This record gives sequence, structure tokens and C-alpha cells, in this order.
Amino acid sequence: MIFVTGGTGMVGAHLLYDLASRGDKILALKRPDSNIHRTEKIFACYSSEYQALLKNIVWVDGDILDKDRMRELLTGVDQIYHAAAVISFDSSDREAMMHTNCQGTANLVDLALSLKIPRFCHVSSIAAIGSPPEGIEAGEEHPWRNTQDHSAYAESKYLSEMEVWRAILEGLNAVIVNPSVIIGPGNWKSGSPALFSTIWKGLKFYTNGVTGFVDVRDVTSAMIQLMDGKKWDAVKNQRYILNSENVAYRDFFDQVAGSLQVKSPKYLAGTMLLKLAWRISALKSFLTGISPALTRDTARSANRMSYFDGSKICRTIAFEYTPVKVSIHNISALFLKDFGLR
Ligand SMILES: NC(=O)c1ccc[n+]([C@@H]2O[C@H](COP(=O)([O-])OP(=O)(O)OC[C@H]3O[C@@H](n4cnc5c(N)ncnc54)[C@H](OP(=O)(O)O)[C@@H]3O)[C@@H](O)[C@H]2O)c1
Repeated sequence: MIFVTGGTGMVGAHLLYDLASRGDKILALKRPDSNIHRTEKIFACYSSEYQALLKNIVWVDGDILDKDRMRELLTGVDQIYHAAAVISFDSSDREAMMHTNCQGTANLVDLALSLKIPRFCHVSSIAAIGSPPEGIEAGEEHPWRNTQDHSAYAESKYLSEMEVWRAILEGLNAVIVNPSVIIGPGNWKSGSPALFSTIWKGLKFYTNGVTGFVDVRDVTSAMIQLMDGKKWDAVKNQRYILNSENVAYRDFFDQVAGSLQVKSPKYLAGTMLLKLAWRISALKSFLTGISPALTRDTARSANRMSYFDGSKICRTIAFEYTPVKVSIHNISALFLKDFGLR
């Protein structure tokens, strides 16, 4: 039996779709107040037969922080795909994020060890690779430096990945994927899917930064191929950066705007403007209690030039990335369809 965490999120929902399409029976973790309708919506993006595919999923209630409940659920499981995490760049979420991401992962790897679950796939992030100096393309071996000015999210992803490495030393068999910015359909109001709705609404500013992008379908396909391939002994206990291309935010925004047939952002938001903007956003959030639209961490990364090398996975398994331009085209079409705009 396969067990998936984070199945109501963008990555987990796509993973469930791919696994269910192969006919796998899956136990999918949700919290009592999780919205599984989001997962159903993702399924509907790709197949008119999605109701039949959803029947391959057995939803089970639990929380990765509740170790006793997780032990009950994981008994008899052969594979764990761990995609649950809290993702936030709001400093007020720091404690919750550190706790969920690190302790939640520690609980799962400890249970995988004690229940002798043969295969574990952990979704980490390029955030756990650390910020490469400008002009350096970071690979899997790039060292994390504690001295760097990391976001709390990056720290939480680094420390949760460390829990997996610790468990590997204790005998766990696992693969770790480190995706760059994952693009795909999902909750258009948050995370990377919100990039599409923001540009649709008429984003005015672009920034000078560069980062890596990867299609969510590539991420889930790589995860499944790593976990299920006959080369398990050769691929296990390693990390794999998943990054299709490094693209300047300006080019990315232009391509999304082109696909959505709206105007491209026109004005450069330089470092000073962003510094001012995140402070105004923080004040607004303090006064209204609503999460800030821009935070110190997002403002800082917006002008950073970060390059990642995602080629190791292509040398390891038969795998090809979807070009970012093609992903943008496909996701834009899904966005427009979702809102009945085309
Ligand atoms: N999105 C990206 O660009 C990106 C890039 C690199 C790496 N990643 C990594 O990819 C993974 C998935 O990201 P995503 O974009 O799919 O995130 P997402 O859409 O925000 O989904 C997060 C998932 O985690 C679940 N979750 C959170 N806390 C939980 C808990 N205590 N117990 C059980 N489930 C819990 C959520 O459940 P609820 O529905 O109940 O909230 C949801 O299903 C994460 O590990 C993230 O760090 C993401």
C-alpha cells in the first residue's frame, strides 16, 4: 500500500492523480478540516473520468504531528510519499512552520524505520540547498551555510531534510527531491499558482531576480520513477534537484502575460522600492490581521539571482523536463478554463 501526505496540496494532489491513473490503491492523509475538493479539482483538470480515478484513494484523517495516529495509519504500508509541509514567508508563521516541517518529518521517518517501511520519498526544496552566490549554479552538493540570511521556510526545509538524512544513517531507504519553484494548477489564490492570477489581474512591477522553475507534473513523475524503478538500489539515499530552467522573473512574467493575453508588468521594482513595499505590507497586516502580500523574505528573494542545476535526475533515470514555456502555456490554459475566461 502507498501512503501520501499533503494530498490536498498542489504537489500531493498531482501525485495522487498520477498514482491513481496507474491503478494504484493509495491511502491519502488529510486533516479533519482539509479541503479535498481541491484535489478533485486537480483531477478534473486532466481527465473527464476523474471520478473513477478518485475511487483509488482512501482518505484517512490524521496529522503528521500526531505520532500515535500516524503509527496506526502507517502499519502495513510499503511506500511513503511525504509532500505535506507548511509553506510561508510570513515571520509570524515561523514557529508553526518549523514545528510541522521538522517534527512532522521526524515522526514519519522514525515510524518508517520502526515499521520497516521499505521506501520513502521526501519532498524537500531548493530552499534546503541554500542560496548559491550570484553566478554559481548550485547542484546537489552545494553546501548549506548557517551564516546565510535564510528565510524561516528555508531553515525549516533544511532541518526537515536533515531528519531524513539522519534516518538514512539509521537504516532508512529514501529518496529526496529538491524542486525549484513548482508551477502548476492549484489554489490560484496562494503559492506559485497565485503568480498566474496576480499577472491576470494586472501586475505592474517586475523584479531583476532569477530562479529555477519546474512543472508540477515533472516533479511527480520524477518522484514515482525514482520510487518505482528497478534501479532503486542505485537511486536511493540521494537527493535530486528538480529544475527545468533558470528564468528571470521578468521573462517568466512576460511569458505568463503573453499566454494569458494580458499586459506584461512594466515597471522595475528595485531593492529600495521592495524594502519600502514589504514594510508597508507588514504594517497593513498588523492593522488588519490579514497575511501580508509581500514579506521581507519574498522581497529579498525577488531581486536575487539564483541558479540551480537539475541535470542529475536526467543522468540517473529516463527523464526529460517540460520546457518552462510549455508549462506556462498549459497552466495558463487551465487557469483561463477554470474561470470560464476562454
Ligand atoms: N510549491 C512550490 O513551489 C514548492 C517548491 C519546492 C518544494 N516544495 C515542497 O513541496 C511540498 C508540497 O508543496 P505544495 O506546494 O503542494 O504545498 P501546499 O499546496 O501548501 O500543500 C501543503 C500540504 O501539506 C498539508 N499539511 C500541512 N500541515 C500538515 C500537518 N500538520 N499534517 C498533515 N498535513 C499537513 C496540507 O494539508 P491541509 O490541506 O490540511 O492544509 C496540504 O495538503 C512541500 O514540502 C513544499 O515545501 C514546494
